[in-house]
Parts: sequence; C-alpha cells; structure tokens
Amino acid sequence: MYEYIENFKNLGFGMFVHFGLYSVSATGEWSKLTNGIEDEEYEKLAKRFKVKKSWAKDLVKTAKLAGCKYITLTTRHHDGFSLYDTKGLSDFDSLHTPTGRDLVREFVDECNKAGIVPFFYHTLLDWRHPDYKNNFPKYIDYLVRSIEILCSQYGKIGGLWFDGMWDKPNDDWQEDRIYGTIRKYQPEAMIINNTGLGEQGKLGHPEIDSVTFERGKPFPIITSGKPIAGEVCEILNDHWGYAKADVSYKGVKDMIEELLDCRQCGCNFLLNVGPVANGSLRPIDKAMLELIGQWIRFNKNFIYNVNISDVTCENAMVMKGDNCYYVAVKTAMGGNLNVVMNISANEPTYKMSAKIKSAKWLDDGSKVEIKNGNEIVGKTFDYGPSAYYRVAKVKIK
Ligand code: GLC
Repeated sequence: MYEYIENFKNLGFGMFVHFGLYSVSATGEWSKLTNGIEDEEYEKLAKRFKVKKSWAKDLVKTAKLAGCKYITLTTRHHDGFSLYDTKGLSDFDSLHTPTGRDLVREFVDECNKAGIVPFFYHTLLDWRHPDYKNNFPKYIDYLVRSIEILCSQYGKIGGLWFDGMWDKPNDDWQEDRIYGTIRKYQPEAMIINNTGLGEQGKLGHPEIDSVTFERGKPFPIITSGKPIAGEVCEILNDHWGYAKADVSYKGVKDMIEELLDCRQCGCNFLLNVGPVANGSLRPIDKAMLELIGQWIRFNKNFIYNVNISDVTCENAMVMKGDNCYYVAVKTAMGGNLNVVMNISANEPTYKMSAKIKSAKWLDDGSKVEIKNGNEIVGKTFDYGPSAYYRVAKVKIK
C-alpha cells in the first residue's frame, strides 16, 4: 500500500530547481518582498522572461550526470507566477510572457524521456493574489483549482512539494481538501509539505508522506504504521533562486558528505540549482553537480535502493543493501602524497559492530584489508586521498 513511499526513498538523491520571474531579476526568489517591489513593477519582469527551447532538456541532462533520480521544479513560487498553463485562473503565468509556452509540460516531457521522476514544488502562500489577504477561503479555492490542473494535465508525477503554510500557521488551509484533490488524480504521489527552518523533521497531517529538513541535519524517522520518508533540501550558495552576486558557494565535498549523512538516516537529499533568466544553469552549479555525479558513479550502491543499517561502524557511515553492507570511510592520507603534502602516513581503521567475512572497495574492486576480524583499514585510492569518501562493500559473518 505504501510502496510509493519506499520507491521514493530508493531514489535517494534529487535536484531542486528554483526557476521563475525572480530568475530575471537575478536577486533571489525573495527579492519582491525583501526589496519591497510593488506588483506593477514586479510584473514588468514578465516582459523579459524569455526561456530557451532546450532549457528542460539541458536541465535533465545535468540531473542525470549528477546522479539525481528525480527533479522538483518550482511550478509556482511565493510571487504567484506559474510556469504552467493556469487555464484562465490567472494571466500571471509563462504563457503570458514572450516565452508563451507551458514550461511544466516541457519539463515533464523531458523527465519522462530520461527516466527521471518529475515532482512539483508549489507555493501555498501568495504575495500577490488579493484573496490571500482578504478572502482566505476564496484563495484556497484558487489554490485547489491550481493543484487540480497540475495533478490532472501532466500524466503521472512523483509528488507535490508544498511550501509556505508557515506563513499563516493559524488559518484554515483545508488540508483535507488539498490532499484529497491530489489523491483523487494521483493516488501514488508523494505529498510533502515543507515545515521550514523552525520545525525540521516535524510530522504533519496523516496524508503527508515525507517530512522535510530544510538546510538541516536529518535524523531517522521511526513510525509505527505508515512509513514516513525524510528529505533534506540544501542550497549550493545562499539563495534558492538565481542571485548573480551570490558567490558564497559551499564545497563539492560538503555536499557529498551531506548526501551520505542523509542516506545513513534513511533520508533523501534534494540539492538546489537556480537557473538564470533563460533557463540555463550557472556554470558553477552545473560543474558542482557533475562532480558530485562523478563521485556517485563510483559509489552508487551507497545511494540508491539501500536502507538504514542495523550494523554500525565507528567514525564511518553504513547502509544496508541486499545481503551486504556499504561502509563509507574517509580516505586515508598516505603514499606519495605524504611527501608532497608533508602529511605523515596514516591508515586509520574503522571498527564494525559485526565480524567481517569479506570486503572490497567499490571504486576499483580491490580487496579491503581487514584487521582483528572486524576493522576496515582505510587505504587511499590510486590517486591519493582526493576521492574523499571511499565505500567498501562488506559481507558479514
Ligand atoms: C524556504 C524559502 C523558499 C524556498 C524553500 C525551499 O521556504 O522561503 O524561498 O523555496 O525554502 O525549501
């Protein structure tokens, strides 16, 4: 019955895409509010929204290279602008810009061609719609009709990812009605509702299938009854939407470590990119994702189709696969790099809570040296320590 939730967990790694009118302003997705831009002024951005034909194809290609199995696209963000044909609900959508196309359609088509699961981010709060402030039940009608379009016009989707309920915590969002609409058209869609920075990992309405950890540290979600997934969403710099002055990038290795940490807690990792106005990725976003993908290609067994482990390993991360375990250890410094980097040779050992029968490194298939029956010796990869984490496939006695 909850197979779709297990399937989601098995995807492991996804790409988050914040794309909208704010990509034109190049000052981040909150700039309308933070810079106090009036509606009329903000709407002028629509005239400059010219998205290139190949945007979705290119995006999906990068996601594939990065090792992402799903993509969550902002179909509408807090500014109220939609990337899909709202069918007369509003004229504040991509159809009413020089682009003149349904970008959600293009996105879904490209995902389907590439075997990537499409997910829709959708804002709950709305800075522009007058009913949001003045007639909340009427605004919910508009929201539900919008969701109905997304759930009925694009074939099977992976899920809906909501955001913004935290803006009006005490109002009646009619959650039963919102989620009921999704279940009517997409019974197996994941329903996710971001609880924001303040309430990471918090369980919500019974129809919700995954908790969120926005830019947070994940923990395993243990429930009796319905299994609940978990997902950490993270940014490469300090913005979700493209902000041209933002150079505060994190490291590729930090992102890999976060991905591994998510997986060992049984959670997924959703890593964000913010395309520029025409839909292309910023070269650094693309390059970072591709490097992460390079690491994953060697070590993919740690990421997909694995579970929380019942066996542990000191100072290392462990996943449970079919009849084996995957142990990610920090690569040891040693060999020639010793001399070059003036680091003394050291081959740390990682002690498992079970006796090891056999083990080999995923990256080159070589045998893992074992000490005392249950300790993995952390050896360098052939080009030194730069592979960062090495993953050993371990069979236990
Ligand atoms: C926060 C931000 C929002 C962003 C979201 C992604 O809620 O307000 O702009 O879309 O995080 O998780």
